[in-house]
Amino acid sequence: MNRSPLKWAGSKAGVMDQLLNFLPSGNRLVEPFVGSGTVFLNTDYKNYLLCDINPDLILFFIMVTHDLKRLEEHGRELFNDGNKPERFYEIRQAFNNGNHPDYLKAAMFLYLNRHCYNGLCRYSEKSGFNVPYGKYKQPYFPGQELKLFSEKANDTGAVFLCCDFSECIEMAGGGDVIYADPPYVPISGATSFTKYYSSEFGLPEHERLSNELSFAKARGCRIVASNSEAAIKTKIYSQFECETINANRSISRATGVDKTAKEAIFTATENN
Ligand SMILES: C[S@@+](CC[C@H](N)C(=O)[O-])C[C@H]1O[C@@H](n2cnc3c(N)ncnc32)[C@H](O)[C@@H]1O
Repeated sequence: MNRSPLKWAGSKAGVMDQLLNFLPSGNRLVEPFVGSGTVFLNTDYKNYLLCDINPDLILFFIMVTHDLKRLEEHGRELFNDGNKPERFYEIRQAFNNGNHPDYLKAAMFLYLNRHCYNGLCRYSEKSGFNVPYGKYKQPYFPGQELKLFSEKANDTGAVFLCCDFSECIEMAGGGDVIYADPPYVPISGATSFTKYYSSEFGLPEHERLSNELSFAKARGCRIVASNSEAAIKTKIYSQFECETINANRSISRATGVDKTAKEAIFTATENN
């Protein structure tokens, strides 16, 4: 299992083995919700189009791909004397307020990701990145993971784009495989973790996604989408085949979501 350099809410690390059984072959993997890049790192397509609405995340991946040495150097400096709350809040403020070179912004993003509470990535409109200090004993600097990510992105010529999922899906055509892993349809009673960057991801967004995946299917794309089991009840993805797998959700501690929750996999490939 290849690990991402980032901790990420909703990462597919825990279900990657099961997910691989659903991903069909194809020329290119298109991910409208790339998140940590775990699926990219653990698949073997020739080409990749990897998108996300979070500009800090996409800038980070672009820097890992094209400016790893400087990112790593500055990242290690930040990690060296960075595991104290005062330093964390100083760097968080600098990240939100400063006009930094891209490699430094990316290094700060990695620092915040590995030192903040639960590796969450949340923003407020007023102050920007607002996750509190994580109180870890010894945050891990993911040197090997950065190297592997960079090598794979360069070897495959992976393209990273910051955009809404519609724009990404529109770029997919015949022979492409789309893997869509949007924020979960919230499970009733649990605190929703659907606000990842600036806007909410509610049922209207899921409806829009489902329609766009259907159009992409009609253009000859193979579709795999995942969500919480709660998505099945909404019937929003009912035009796709559906199976469930056992998920071990890493976000469960923060949300109160049952750790043994199931995950729904929706597919539309040539086999169905
Ligand atoms: C569940 S996570 C994806 C996790 C990923 N599969 C992994 O293994 O790490 C959902 C992602 O969707 C992104 N996102 C939220 N709203 C979006 C939108 N409207 N368009 C594109 N990406 C969006 C979030 O920034 C987040 O990274």
